[in-house]
Amino acid sequence: HQSLCGQDFLDFSSYSSGELRALLKLAETLKEAQKTGFTHDLLVGKTLGMIFEKASTRTRVSFEVAMLQLGGHALYLPSGTTQMGRGEPIADTARVMSRYVDAVMIRTFGHEIVQEFAEYATIPVINGLTDEHHPCQALSDALTILEHKGRLEGITIAYLGDGNNMAHSLLQLAPKLGMNIRVACPSGYLPMREVVEEAIHWGQANGTQVLVTTDPLRAIEDADVVYTDVWASMGDEAEAEERKQRFADYQVNAELVAQAAPDYIFMHCLPAHRGEEVTAEIIDGPHSVVFDQAENRLHVQKAILSALMADAGAFGED
Ligand code: CP
Ligand code: NVA
Repeated sequence: HQSLCGQDFLDFSSYSSGELRALLKLAETLKEAQKTGFTHDLLVGKTLGMIFEKASTRTRVSFEVAMLQLGGHALYLPSGTTQMGRGEPIADTARVMSRYVDAVMIRTFGHEIVQEFAEYATIPVINGLTDEHHPCQALSDALTILEHKGRLEGITIAYLGDGNNMAHSLLQLAPKLGMNIRVACPSGYLPMREVVEEAIHWGQANGTQVLVTTDPLRAIEDADVVYTDVWASMGDEAEAEERKQRFADYQVNAELVAQAAPDYIFMHCLPAHRGEEVTAEIIDGPHSVVFDQAENRLHVQKAILSALMADAGAFGED
């Protein structure tokens, strides 16, 4: 794309390395501007509709604050309080919302729901998490890695646990930004085949490693970033007990991180369960950057919103 204005942000498959780097650069600029007290008014008079079919703290608050700080407004629309929650078709909701607001963010279950919404909407649609992808989080994580490591190229991420939305978004993103990614999950919980194949394709094109394994030690060895997420995502609550047994060997704890690079950083998209996917010692310890990740949601969302809604940033050919 020459410009991201009017585009959707559903997952990374339609985004090039250059576009993702430009979004990160824009996020850095907007973060710096905020820290120096410079106010930006890129979205004056613009409105974001935020449809939530699942719970949220970070996504809801950071999007709402981002819109305010850019001069616009956000509408919080828990789906149960809308006609969508009473069965109004997604296609109709998308066409109606397109007549009122300038962009929509949706957090929902199946990825096909945001795809259908985007197909019928005439405004940008942003994925605020589906069962399959969480791109806003992964892009924020790249900014956090860049800030802590000074580079992305050649960085190795080890993701341990469930082959879920976070695993998929990190797999899609890492090779496009020059990072190696190793994902370790118990069999039966591996990431989706098409996402892995896509990651391998980009890894080969960009000369980065993509490894999917059931062996947590193989994944974590000398890793610069140790990443985990909940074992039971929103929607998996009924399987929580069974998953605790199946995932026990993938807990990020002192014994496992001893195999990572000595200056590794620990990452988690939050919310976390201390004593399950990570021990308190690690998530509350000196290597943990989880609150920087949370903060960066705000800055990265400002970049996404202003690129999609106001043509901010420099998106040349690449
Ligand atoms: N990490 C994340 O998306 O958090 P919330 O569920 O609180 O939005
Ligand atoms: N994998 C988690 C991420 C929450 C931000 C979930 O989908 O519940």
